[in-house]
Amino acid sequence: MRLRTGASAIFGALLAAQSASGLQLDLQSPQSIKTAARTAADGMMAFYPGNLTNGIPGLFGDPYYWWEAGAAFGALIDYWYYTGDTSYNEVTTQAMLFQVGDNQNYEPTNQSKSLGNDDQAFWGIAAMSAAEVAFPNPPPDKPQWLALAQAVFNRQQPRWNTDSCAGGLKWQIFSFNNGYTYRNSISNGCFFNLAARLGAYTHNTTYLDWAEKTWDWVANPSISLINENYQVFDGTDDVKNCTSLNHVQWSYNSGVFLLGAATMYNQTTGAKQELWKQRTQSLLDASQVFFSRGSNIMTEVACEPSGNCNVDQRSFKAYLGRWMAATTKVAPFTHDQIMPLLATSAQAAALSCSGGAAGTTCGMRWTTGSWDGQTGVGEQMSALEVMQSNLIDTVSGPVSQGGGGISKGDVSAGTGATVQGPVERITTADKAGAGILTALVLVGVLGGTWWLVR
Ligand SMILES: *[C@@H]1O[C@H](CO)[C@@H](O)[C@H](O)[C@H]1NC(C)=O
Ligand SMILES: *[C@@H]1O[C@H](CO)[C@@H](O)[C@H](O)[C@H]1NC(C)=O
Ligand SMILES: *[C@@H]1O[C@H](CO)[C@@H](O)[C@H](O)[C@H]1NC(C)=O
Ligand SMILES: *[C@@H]1O[C@H](CO)[C@@H](O)[C@H](O)[C@H]1NC(C)=O
Ligand SMILES: *[C@@H]1O[C@H](CO)[C@@H](O)[C@H](O)[C@H]1NC(C)=O
Repeated sequence: MRLRTGASAIFGALLAAQSASGLQLDLQSPQSIKTAARTAADGMMAFYPGNLTNGIPGLFGDPYYWWEAGAAFGALIDYWYYTGDTSYNEVTTQAMLFQVGDNQNYEPTNQSKSLGNDDQAFWGIAAMSAAEVAFPNPPPDKPQWLALAQAVFNRQQPRWNTDSCAGGLKWQIFSFNNGYTYRNSISNGCFFNLAARLGAYTHNTTYLDWAEKTWDWVANPSISLINENYQVFDGTDDVKNCTSLNHVQWSYNSGVFLLGAATMYNQTTGAKQELWKQRTQSLLDASQVFFSRGSNIMTEVACEPSGNCNVDQRSFKAYLGRWMAATTKVAPFTHDQIMPLLATSAQAAALSCSGGAAGTTCGMRWTTGSWDGQTGVGEQMSALEVMQSNLIDTVSGPVSQGGGGISKGDVSAGTGATVQGPVERITTADKAGAGILTALVLVGVLGGTWWLVR
């Protein structure tokens, strides 16, 4: 028994030594980070059929939902910002403009069967990033980045719903979609994040007021999507007037509120600024749950250790990494706490990018020191974002109107006629797994225990 264990441990170590080369990543060298990011981006886009013959721009296709494509193009906007490499700009602009929908507000008719506020927001947030980093503007006859972000805000703000729970956004937009009674943190968090950033970019305080209102709702003790310890829970059911929580914690929920709070800190003064500083710091402290004890490697704690992350969840670490890095710019007091976490995670992610024929395919579990055999858009995107985030000190912070911004806005963008959803009620089978959350999470809502989803 002993011998067998020892022998297999040695054999395992030999195998690991052989395959653990992975991406070369020297965090002291910006060029090394850029090269690694390029390899991870190439790996992600190897899954993209959108610009091939018969491909639809902006769609990765099954099993990737529409929202994740918005997230992926957001990652490529970041990629250009961090590296200056324009290789993916054209395909990104093409996709971002192809998916705007008839009213130029990221509600394309093709997606209405599963269009949640969060799904729409991931595209809107990508457009917001494009404005903030001064990504090259679309042609003048096309919708502009800032206007697209405003369009998403303009569509979501009237969906603020006081029929129950005294406020908040529902997860789903259309009543015929499953999840219509669910009020989740990511939908409200994306709205908060987008509103805060629109306020910072345009200097229009109406956006900041909405961000504050959204925070006040999610953190209200009777709702507690964010609790007194700054843990961010998945969601709550409005049929029960938001009295029963699904307590699962996802990394992207912490991240989306972290950057929003940091932006509010940046945009306020005096006592309000102190309050947002404390909230930002507390969210950051609470996000430590997503870093493995001792080694500080980013981990999707609700599903990764058990190997149960679904396709959506495999991408969540990308957004925590992305938003942590952006936080260091608008709330510099977080810098020295965040950067070591991004460094250890990037180094571990690079080791995981050692699979496939080329030996650069990225895996899901960064804590193993090698590739774990998993592969997909989410795995590639997470590695890409966490590695390129280490370039944050080499780039400047977000621009704004009158402060280097080059994107043209439109305060009433996106408020054209309402998008028509399909007339017939869609079946459960159609809907299975649609949106960001899985049926399993809804089971979790009923059970009210986060470990049910593991
Ligand atoms: C698709 O986009 C990629 C990245 O921009 C590019 O390298 C490739 O040539 C494009 N393919 C086609 C068929 O346009
Ligand atoms: C919507 O679906 C049709 C049919 O597949 C396709 O031709 C069209 O390009 C799609 N539009 C968008 C915006 O994805
Ligand atoms: C529903 O919840 C809100 C927010 O906690 C509360 O203000 C309201 O009184 C509740 N309504 C009912 C009918 O319990
Ligand atoms: C500020 O934004 C709000 C919300 O979109 C809009 O109604 C208002 O007209 C804007 N104000 C200015 C001065 O642009
Ligand atoms: C707000 O953000 C800007 C841009 O990154 C930064 O230069 C400035 O120091 C921040 N303000 C505060 C109060 O931290």
